[in-house]
Amino acid sequence: MLTYITNIQQLNGILPQSVSFLKGKEMNKIENIKNAFLGIKEGLIFSFGKMSEIPTLKKGEKVIDASNRMVFPSWCDSHTHLVFAAPREGEFVDRINGLTYEEIALKGGGILNSAKKIAETSEEDLFNDALVRLKEIEQLGTGAVEIKSGYGLSLEAEIKMLKVINRLKKASNLLIKTTFLGAHAIPKIYKENRTAYIDLIIDGMLPLIEKEKLADFIDVFCETNYYTPEETDRILEAGIKIGLKPKIHVNQFTSIGGIQSGIKYEALSVDHLEVMTEKDITDISNSKTMATLLPSCSFFLSIPFAPAKELIENNLPIALASDYNPGSTPSGNMNFVVSLACIKMKLTPEQAINAATINGAYAMDLSDEVGSITVGKKANLFITKPISSIAMLPYSFGNNQIETVILNGEIA
Ligand code: NIG
Ligand code: FE
Repeated sequence: MLTYITNIQQLNGILPQSVSFLKGKEMNKIENIKNAFLGIKEGLIFSFGKMSEIPTLKKGEKVIDASNRMVFPSWCDSHTHLVFAAPREGEFVDRINGLTYEEIALKGGGILNSAKKIAETSEEDLFNDALVRLKEIEQLGTGAVEIKSGYGLSLEAEIKMLKVINRLKKASNLLIKTTFLGAHAIPKIYKENRTAYIDLIIDGMLPLIEKEKLADFIDVFCETNYYTPEETDRILEAGIKIGLKPKIHVNQFTSIGGIQSGIKYEALSVDHLEVMTEKDITDISNSKTMATLLPSCSFFLSIPFAPAKELIENNLPIALASDYNPGSTPSGNMNFVVSLACIKMKLTPEQAINAATINGAYAMDLSDEVGSITVGKKANLFITKPISSIAMLPYSFGNNQIETVILNGEIA
């Protein structure tokens, strides 16, 4: 059965199927049709065009009237840690009182704090809490999301997290990809013997992940005090052997060669990039790796924003993601991410929206399925409130202009 969205004031984000991401100047434009319709069949975009060309509606076909409203492809949030056991608002207050994120981590807070909580929490509770978070971001316009493990840091707890994410895949309307991030921090008990923990990742966790098909991607936090580029290489190589594509945390606080590791192993994306050298920018320019930026993490931790404009000026593609997690970004609101990208990184609304849709889809290996208005892609969309231009989306910071969310062709 067909559903038509009719009288759309402006249908935005139209792309041919052949385009899997936009880079450099290509990001400056959002293709649109004014006074448009969009047809949906079996959860997929079936047709679209000018209202004057809409086929005569047959009996039983459903109509959603979008007069004075715009339609956009859903946000594609390619970097989250939204399975976690407890918030960390105490560390937030510690930072207000002068400690830095690194100082808190060195005192045993941070990721290790979350790992302690995960160990004490049942799979059922983790699943139920994460499902609530997914429902929240769904209503904020997200239609596809990547979720990482990485707060387990033991074989049992990492597998528990991955199982939760795989259950969420089945239970949620959202399109979900799973990333294994066993190498998120060095667990306390392995502090003096980090190689033993890396061996456990490679010889203990990865074989189970392969056997039970628990992940799509592999991630490492390549950073001073976390994992070195050499350790990152070793873990990525082992992940690639079992079919996991790399997608890694790099250059959040220091530039130590993480970008180069990512490129060497053809990572789908390198994420964070708050601290970039000239060489990092040149190296990534010659790759197919997406530069994924996380402005709400910079905002929340008061650290520098990634040099988004410079990356685009170097003809690169960039994606925007939330980084939703209890430590550095307790929010999965992609509307706010897009606002911050415009306000703090000086992206234009068009650049920010492209970065949060088609380029985010690419960073999850999903640009065949979501990220644009394209016949055959999933009908994951949102209809706005009455708005005068697309700039109203980032302009309305702290609020959002979404009125109706459509996932798999149904109002969610
Ligand atoms: O992407 N930087 C590494 N990981 C997360 C934060 C993890 C945490 O603090 O819990 C991030 O910001
Ligand atoms: Fe992250």
